[in-house]
Amino acid sequence: MSKYESYAEGNFKKYDDILIDFLRIPSVSAQPEHKKDVRDACEFLKSYLEGIGLEPKIYETEGHPILYAEYIKDESKPTALIYGHYDVQPVDPIDLWDSPPFEPVIKDGIIYARGTADDKGQLMVHVHALEAYLNQGDDIPINVKIIFEGEEEVASEHLDQFLEEHKDMLDCDLAIISDSSMFGPDMPALTYGLRGIVPCEVKVTGPNRDLHSGSYGGAVANPINILCSMVAQLHDENRHIAVDGFYDEVVEVEDWEKEEYGRLPFDDEAFKENLHVKALMGEKGYSTLERKWARPTLDVNGIFGGYMGEGQKTIIPSWAGCKITMRLVPDMDPDKTADRLEAYLKKIAPDSVTVEVQKLGGAKAALVSKDNPIMQAAEKALEYGFGKRPFYIREGGSIPIVNVFKELLGVDTILFGLCQPDCNAHSPNEWFGLDDFHRGIKSAINLYEELAKMKA
Ligand code: BES
Ligand code: MN
Ligand code: MN
Repeated sequence: MSKYESYAEGNFKKYDDILIDFLRIPSVSAQPEHKKDVRDACEFLKSYLEGIGLEPKIYETEGHPILYAEYIKDESKPTALIYGHYDVQPVDPIDLWDSPPFEPVIKDGIIYARGTADDKGQLMVHVHALEAYLNQGDDIPINVKIIFEGEEEVASEHLDQFLEEHKDMLDCDLAIISDSSMFGPDMPALTYGLRGIVPCEVKVTGPNRDLHSGSYGGAVANPINILCSMVAQLHDENRHIAVDGFYDEVVEVEDWEKEEYGRLPFDDEAFKENLHVKALMGEKGYSTLERKWARPTLDVNGIFGGYMGEGQKTIIPSWAGCKITMRLVPDMDPDKTADRLEAYLKKIAPDSVTVEVQKLGGAKAALVSKDNPIMQAAEKALEYGFGKRPFYIREGGSIPIVNVFKELLGVDTILFGLCQPDCNAHSPNEWFGLDDFHRGIKSAINLYEELAKMKA
C-alpha cells in the first residue's frame, strides 16, 4: 500500500464525518427555496478545497454557481478534468424516508441521505484522493482541473456556456466523473456508455374554459381523454416507439456488446423481485440490459390537468398536459427527436384539440472506446482498489456534460462509478456504502498514478 493510501485509510472516519456535514446541506437545485442551500454546498466545497491547499474560484452563472480549481505542476504529464455535481434531487415523497433526507445516518456501514450516492459522496472520493497527495507534501502525479457544478439535476443549464467561455482554461487530455454505479456489490465497473436525454412538455388544449360535463359532455373533446389516447399511441404492441423516424439514426447494439451483456451476472428474476413486479416490460427483441443501456426510450414522467382535489367536480377540462423524457442512444439528436415527437403528436391529434410541444434542453448520448488507454488505466485502478477486474457496462442514465466534453474539448471521460445500482438515487432512502466510498478513494489515488504513466 502506498503512503497515500495509508494516509487516506487513517482518515476514513474523518472523511465519513465530512461527508455527513456536506450531506446536511439541502442543495436541491430544482427548487427556488433552496437556492441559498445550493450556494452553501458550493461554499462548503470551496473552503474544503482551500483547506487541502488548492485555490478554488466560484464562477457565477444565471443559475447556480460553478466551482473551479486547478493544480498544474508538470506540463509533460496528462491533465485530467475532474467533474462532479453538488446539487441533489428533491426529496419527495418525504413520507417514504426512514430517516430525514438531510439528517444523514450511518447504519451497518451504509450512509443514508439525499445526495449521498448522487453525487456528493462520489465527488468527495476525488477530493480526498487529491488530498492524500497534497497532505503528504507531494505532488499530485497528474495535472488536475476540477469543475463542481450545482445544476446537473436540472440538466446543467448554464454549464455549456461556461465551458464555451473558458474553453482554453479547461484544455485537458481526459475527464473523470464518479457519478454512476458499479455493476453490483463487489463488482466494480467501468461505464463506457451513457444515454442522452431530451425532455419535453406537451399541452393539449380543447375548449376555452372548463365546462360543465353534463351540459357539454358528448359534444366537445375532453383534452385529458384525448391526451391519454395519444400517449397510448406512442408505443406499438412490441413496445417499439411509434414516432415516425424515431430510430433513423440509432446505432444498433453491437454483437460483442450483446455477448458481453449476456455474460454479465444479471438476473431478471432478482431484478423483478427487487422492484416487486410480476413481469418486466420493454422493447421486443432485446434483453433487459440492452433495453436499459443501449436502446432509446420514451416515458411519460407526469400527466396533469382537470380537477385533482378531493371529492368530485364534474367538468370537461379545458386542457391537459404531460411531461415526457426520451432517452437517446448514439447517434440520435435531441432536437431532431423532439421535432419528430411534435410532428407525430400533431399528426395523431384530432381536430377537436390543439397540441403544443415544448422542448426543455437535451443532451446527446456518450460512448467511450474500450481501446482508449484511459480505460486501461481506469481498469487497473479499479482492480487495485476493489481486488477485482471491473466489468465494462453502459448506463441508462444521462450525464449531459459528457458529450459536451467530447464535442467541445475533444476529450473522453472515465466514468468511474462507485455507488450501487440500487442506491435509491432520486428515490427515498438514498444510500452509499462506506466500504465503496473508501475503496473508491484508494482506487482514485491509484487512478491518478496510472494516468501519470500515459503521455500527455
Ligand atoms: N448520476 C446521474 C446519472 C446516472 C444515473 C448515471 C444512473 C448512471 C446511472 C445524474 O445525476 C442524473 O440523474 N442525471 C439526469 C440528467 C437529467 C436531469 C438531465 C438523468 O439521467 O435523469
Ligand atoms: Mn448524478
Ligand atoms: Mn441524479
